[in-house]
Amino acid sequence: MSTRSLTRIIPSIPVSDGAGVKLRRSLGQSQGLRLDPFLMLDEFASDNPDDYIAGFPPHPHRGFETVTYMLAGDFEHEDHLGHKGHLRGGGAQWMTAGRGIIHSEMPLQESGRLHGFQFWINLPAKEKMKPAAYRDIQPEEIPEVTIDGGSVKVVAGRLETADGRTADGPIQGLSTAPLFLDVRLEAGARFTQSVADGHSAFLYPYSGSLHVGAGDGRTLPNRQAGVLSDGDSIEVQAGEDGGHFLLLAARPIGEPVVQYGPFVMNTREEIEQALADYRDGRLTA
Ligand code: FE2
Repeated sequence: MSTRSLTRIIPSIPVSDGAGVKLRRSLGQSQGLRLDPFLMLDEFASDNPDDYIAGFPPHPHRGFETVTYMLAGDFEHEDHLGHKGHLRGGGAQWMTAGRGIIHSEMPLQESGRLHGFQFWINLPAKEKMKPAAYRDIQPEEIPEVTIDGGSVKVVAGRLETADGRTADGPIQGLSTAPLFLDVRLEAGARFTQSVADGHSAFLYPYSGSLHVGAGDGRTLPNRQAGVLSDGDSIEVQAGEDGGHFLLLAARPIGEPVVQYGPFVMNTREEIEQALADYRDGRLTA
């Protein structure tokens, strides 16, 4: 067994996206700060409606998947196919843009707290042009498992702890084999999880802090993405204020990435094609 250690810390920075939604972006704040196949991670957390009320009016995507996970608040998703989805606290949406989707993501509240995440995960070349699809995952579809000193929600892949707890999340069978856990630990509690050798993995504490790696580990403060070395297990211990964090892992794709805004393809020509298709109303055809 080899325990993964912290190799790189990417602090999140404040950015504004959509029609002026205030976010914190860690992965994806520049093109060098990705972790194949993860392209971006945004956290939105605010009690002030001015920070989120403008939402994300209709915009396109092609070539990857967007995953939204809500801790608190309500969002509505609407796309060109006529699909409408209500995202609520504790729920998630796994959207495959594939060859093209035009959608809006708007808050369904005018006050109160909104807290959640969106990450982008790439698709391999052979899947970039598949039909768009999305799945709304209700909070009750996400298993929550009690562990020593905490609990874990399993959105994708399999929870597999050192003491033999397992649970399968609602998202399974994708070619990147993603693992997506939301872990809550009390102060000083430890957590271990098996992760396939060779898969990329990172942690994002959204409250408290973590010590990452075997033994005392290296400290990862909150709102910073902690990229992990290779290995077959992840071991963390919560700091003195506890630790709430996302654990994300997936099989790297190993292909060239050319991104232009909401389009992520393998070549510049494919990006030009996406722009032309969008301009001519053929993005989603
Ligand atoms: Fe979007």
